[in-house]
Amino acid sequence: MNTEHPEVVLGVGAGIAAYKVCELLRRLTESGHRVQVVPTADALRFVGEPTWAALSGRPVATGVWDRVHEVPHVRIGQAADLVVVAPATADLLAKAAHGMADDLLTNTLLTARCPVLFAPAMHTEMWEHPATRANVALLRERGAIVLDPAVGRLTGADSGRGRLPDPDALFAAARRVLARGGRGADLAGRRVVVSAGGTREAIDPVRFLGNRSSGRQGYALATTAAARGAEVVLVSANVGLPDPAGARVRRVGSARELRDAVLDERAGADAVVMAAAVADFRPAATAEAKIKKTGAGPAPIELVENPDILLEISRERGRPGQVVVGFAAETDHVLEHGRAKLDRKGCDLLVVNQVGEGRAFGTADNQAVVLAADGSATEIPRGPKEDLADRVWDLVAGRLAPPVTGR
Ligand code: CTP
Repeated sequence: MNTEHPEVVLGVGAGIAAYKVCELLRRLTESGHRVQVVPTADALRFVGEPTWAALSGRPVATGVWDRVHEVPHVRIGQAADLVVVAPATADLLAKAAHGMADDLLTNTLLTARCPVLFAPAMHTEMWEHPATRANVALLRERGAIVLDPAVGRLTGADSGRGRLPDPDALFAAARRVLARGGRGADLAGRRVVVSAGGTREAIDPVRFLGNRSSGRQGYALATTAAARGAEVVLVSANVGLPDPAGARVRRVGSARELRDAVLDERAGADAVVMAAAVADFRPAATAEAKIKKTGAGPAPIELVENPDILLEISRERGRPGQVVVGFAAETDHVLEHGRAKLDRKGCDLLVVNQVGEGRAFGTADNQAVVLAADGSATEIPRGPKEDLADRVWDLVAGRLAPPVTGR
């Protein structure tokens, strides 16, 4: 693989979301990827050839009968480091699942030996149809990465699951797949729950006790897990980032809401990663109206302890063999505090990082030591939060029981 300028095939299906894929193409080319766009014939009804050619800086490959001497139906797939199909229509998923090859894109899918990332977009009914479910399952079983579509407004006035994830999120997913250099969908068939962000504990209707967590590390964990083929539930507390492609996002506010969502989702999950910064304490009572100055000085706020979610889910697992991961942000005696916290909480892995002086919170980079219940410690050097996330998933993957067949 040309790591500096990877060769990406962008297969475009005939869906209205093709217009969003122009933005994805832009992100790819601007960041040094060489992109060959392969639209289906009907996709060109939505976005025309000149747009794809101009944005990719290359002629668009549209048919098996063009430039036949170059054998395009074989060459394009063979040369690719990554194939992204977006939007992947129900029809394209069906053809890909059954090995049909009646146009250039479907031929390319059969000749490519690199990772293939499908980003489906269609109406909810089509996505939920047993035929589509079976096709998606078959593709995933064979190692393709099929992102779950996002929930939101669809074509027309209706809304539901079926939206193409935002171009930025798709771009992040594509980059993660490339960054793993073809190691593929090792988390396919796995279900993971990730919590992210920081909880807010209401003092009155306008004020809260909160913390400085940006949610970036948790979002990076969700992005990377989805790009490795996992089904991802992201329990998100007060995060202002775009939804990661492929993840189902549940929004929560307080620690107790986060606990309810995590307990609800963890049944049957292969792993639960608690990256959220959960408030240890909350006000004993929330004022119904905004607290006013009275002139007599501030009234003290009485605090009570929140439930310790990590402790609870470590003690009582959502299924046998479930891997539970905690995070710890420490300002001093990092390893000593980390080891004590791992023992106290009873999780399998604890990702410990040092905070303060501009480290970790809100930054794109992170570094950590991952302590394991078996006594081992793995240093993860400073790097993008996505790289750290991938290392954490490596450690989780190594602890997962073999998948139950027929699941
Ligand atoms: N956590 C949790 N529930 C809480 C507090 C924390 O599930 N009420 C989880 C966090 O998501 C994180 C881990 O526990 O994965 C460590 O959080 P931290 O606040 O460092 O742990 P504490 O037990 O609060 O330890 P400390 O004494 O350092 O405050």
